[in-house]
Amino acid sequence: MDLEVLNGLLRPKSVAVVGASDTPGKIGYTVVRSLLESKYEGPIYPINPKGGTIQGLQAYTSVLEVPGEIDAAAVVVPAKLVPQVATECGQKGVKGLIVIASGFSEVGLHDLEDQVVTIAHEYGMRVLGPNIVGILSNSDKCNASFAPFLPLAGSAALVSQSGALLIAMDASTYIRRVGFDKMISIGNMSDVDFADLIEWLDQDASTECVSLYIEGIRDGRRFMETARKAGKPIVALKSGVSAHGAAAAASHTGSLAGAQKVYDAAFGQAGVVMASDLNNLFDRTLALSLQPPLTGDNLLILTNGGGVGVLATDSAERYGLPLRFAPKDVQVELKKHMPEFGSAKNPVDLTGMAGRDWYQDSTQYAYGHSWVDGLVVLYCETAMTDPQNIAEGIKAAVDASGVKGKPIVVSFVGGERSEAAMRWLVENGIPAYNEPDTAVNAMAALREYARNKAKASNGFTKLTDVDEAKARAIIAQVRAAGDRNVTEMESKMVFEAYGLPVVTSRQATTEDEAAEMANAMGYPIVMKILSPDILHKSDAGGVKVGLESEAEIREAFRTIMANAKAYNANADIHGVVVQKMAPWGTEVILGSVNDATFGPTLMFGLGGIFVEVLKDVTFRVAPVGVEETLSMLSDINGAPILKGVRGEAPRDTKALADVLSRYSQMICDLADEIQESDANPMIVYEEGAGACIVDARIILKPRKS
Ligand code: COA
Repeated sequence: MDLEVLNGLLRPKSVAVVGASDTPGKIGYTVVRSLLESKYEGPIYPINPKGGTIQGLQAYTSVLEVPGEIDAAAVVVPAKLVPQVATECGQKGVKGLIVIASGFSEVGLHDLEDQVVTIAHEYGMRVLGPNIVGILSNSDKCNASFAPFLPLAGSAALVSQSGALLIAMDASTYIRRVGFDKMISIGNMSDVDFADLIEWLDQDASTECVSLYIEGIRDGRRFMETARKAGKPIVALKSGVSAHGAAAAASHTGSLAGAQKVYDAAFGQAGVVMASDLNNLFDRTLALSLQPPLTGDNLLILTNGGGVGVLATDSAERYGLPLRFAPKDVQVELKKHMPEFGSAKNPVDLTGMAGRDWYQDSTQYAYGHSWVDGLVVLYCETAMTDPQNIAEGIKAAVDASGVKGKPIVVSFVGGERSEAAMRWLVENGIPAYNEPDTAVNAMAALREYARNKAKASNGFTKLTDVDEAKARAIIAQVRAAGDRNVTEMESKMVFEAYGLPVVTSRQATTEDEAAEMANAMGYPIVMKILSPDILHKSDAGGVKVGLESEAEIREAFRTIMANAKAYNANADIHGVVVQKMAPWGTEVILGSVNDATFGPTLMFGLGGIFVEVLKDVTFRVAPVGVEETLSMLSDINGAPILKGVRGEAPRDTKALADVLSRYSQMICDLADEIQESDANPMIVYEEGAGACIVDARIILKPRKS
C-alpha cells in the first residue's frame, strides 16, 4: 500500500473540483458547496474553463494553473473529458482522483475506464471510482461529494459500492444514531478496491470498525487475505446473492454452490462478520464500533421483565449463543438485588420492582464476574422508574467495575424517554437497541467476530505425499484425446494420485475381463458403464449393484452395454468399471467448484436425500486445514448423524476431516485444470475404519483458446 498516495486521496490536505460550477443543481456546484459547508480547512480549487470565481472561491481554468499543491481532485466533468483531466492532474502532481462522473464500465465503456487508470498509474496517482458519490470524513471536515452533509460523527467507516445507498445511509445515521467517521463511495472499483480500503482503514486512527456494502468483489483471494490481516472488525452486507450460475453448473457440487454460500464461507474464513440487511448492518456496526469482541460463550441477561427476558433467550439460541444457568456464586450474589420472587438463574429477572440501585449493583457484579463473558441488560419502561436514571446506573456500573475487554449491550423497550436514554447510552459507548432481539443479534456479531478471527489463521499444512505430476499426466491424456469429459476411472486415478481413499476399481473392456476381475476382487461387485459421453450413468441403465456371481457379472455386462448403446448410439464406450461393492456406512458428498471470485472452493455434506432434497451442505474456500474441515463437519444440520444416532457408533470424523483437507489441496494444486469435482458418494465408517470414495467426477476447465 502506498500510504502517502492513499492519504492524499482519502484525507486530502487540498482538493481541486474539476468541473466546478456556479450553477445550482449541477453536481459540480454541489461538490464545492459540500466542501464549504463541511468547513473543510484545506484549500479548495474550483476548476472551470471560464475561470473567474465560483461560490466565492477563485477558480482556475486548469489544475495546471493552481499555484499550490493538490492532494485530491474530485472530477465532475462528462466521462469523455476525464482522460484529459487525468493527464493534467498527473502533470500537476495530484495524488488521487475522486472520479464522481458516470458513463464508464457500468455502461460498457471499459476502454475509457481503463484509459483513465492507465494515465493515473503513469503518474503514480490512484483512482477512486468512477461512478461514485465521493468521500466524506468527519475528522477531516471533508465532504468531497454530492451527499448533503457529513454523517453523524462516530468511529465506524462505511465503504459502499452503491452511491445512492451511501447517501441514504449518510442521512439515516442521524435517525439511527450510528456514528461514522468516514464514508467512501467505491463505485466501479476501476483501481482502488475493497482490499485497498480495508488495508488503509485498518491503519486509520479515526476508524474502529469497517462496514461494507458489497455488490461484487473482483479478487476474492486478495480480499480474504487483507481482511484476515486486519486488526479491526469488518462487517459486510452482500447483495445480489441469488444462485447465479447454479443452473449452468455441470456437477452436483456446482449446482449447490450459490454465490451466497460461497461468500458466507469466504467471509467467515476471513474473519468478516456478515449482516443480513441494512438495519442489521447498522446495528452490527454500532456494536462492533463501540464494544470489544465476545471471546467466550457465557452470556448473561439481566432484565426487569420476564417477557423480554424470554424473547432474548430465544434470540440467543437462534444466533448461536444458547444461555447457560449462572454458577451458584453468581446466583447467590444476584439474589441480593431482587425481591424474593425474582430469578437469578439466567436470564436474571430483577422483576418490575427493579430501580436504579438494583440495576446498577447487579450490573456491576455481573459485569465484573469472570464467568460472564458478555452482558445483555434489558429494561422495560415502568411508571416507577426513569429510563435515564437506569441508563446512568448501567454506565456507572460499567465504569466502576474497572473491567476492560468485555462486551455489554442494552435494550430498552418503551417510549420517548427510553429512546432518549438509549441515545445517551450510545453517546457514552454502550450500544442500545429498542428490540431485545436486535441487542442479542449485536452481541452475536461480537461473538462471530471473535470466532471468525480465531479460525482465520486456517492452519493448513501442505501435504507432501501427493503425486501432482501423475494427476497432471492423467488430465493431459484426457485433454490430448479431445475436449471430452473425464471418465469415472480417470477421475478416480487423479483422486488416487492425491492419496484419497478410492474404492478399488478396474476397467474391463470385455465380458471375460470383467468376470476375471470380479473373481479376483471377490463378491459382491458393482459394475458401471465407462464412457466420457454418459455422465448420468444410472439414467442410461448403466449401473448394476450387488452382483454376487460370475454368471451375474456376465449378464450385467451385456445388459449395461446394450442399455448404453440404446441411450446414446454415438457414445464413445471405454468398457465398464468393475469395483468391489463398498460395505454399508454413512454416505457423504464432497466436491469442489472453482468459484469465479474466490477460486477453488470445497463442499461437504451428507449424501443421498440430504444433498438431493435438503441441500444440507457447507463450503470453504480452499485450501483448508484439518481444524477447519472438522468445523465443516459440525456446520451441517445433519452433524449428529456423524456423531452416531440411535445407538449407531460414531463415524470416523478424523479420517473424514483428513480426506477433506487433502481434497482441498488437490483442487488448489490443480486449480488451473479442475473446474468442478465430486466424490459422491463417499462412505464413512465407524471410528478408526476410515472412509472410501465410491464414485468420482472431475469436470475440466474449458481449454484456453
Ligand atoms: N475542466 C473543468 N471544467 C470543465 C471542463 C474541463 N475540461 N470541461 C467542462 N467543464 C465544466 C463545464 O463548463 C461545466 O461548468 P458550468 O456549469 O460552469 O458550465 C462543468 O464543468 C460541468 O460540465 P457539464 O458539461 O455541464 O456537465 P454536467 O454538470 O451536466 O455533468 C457530470 C457532469 C460528471 C455530473 C455528469 O456527466 C455525470 O456523470 N453525472 C452522474 C454523476 C453520478 O451520478 N455519479 C455516480 C453517483 S452514484
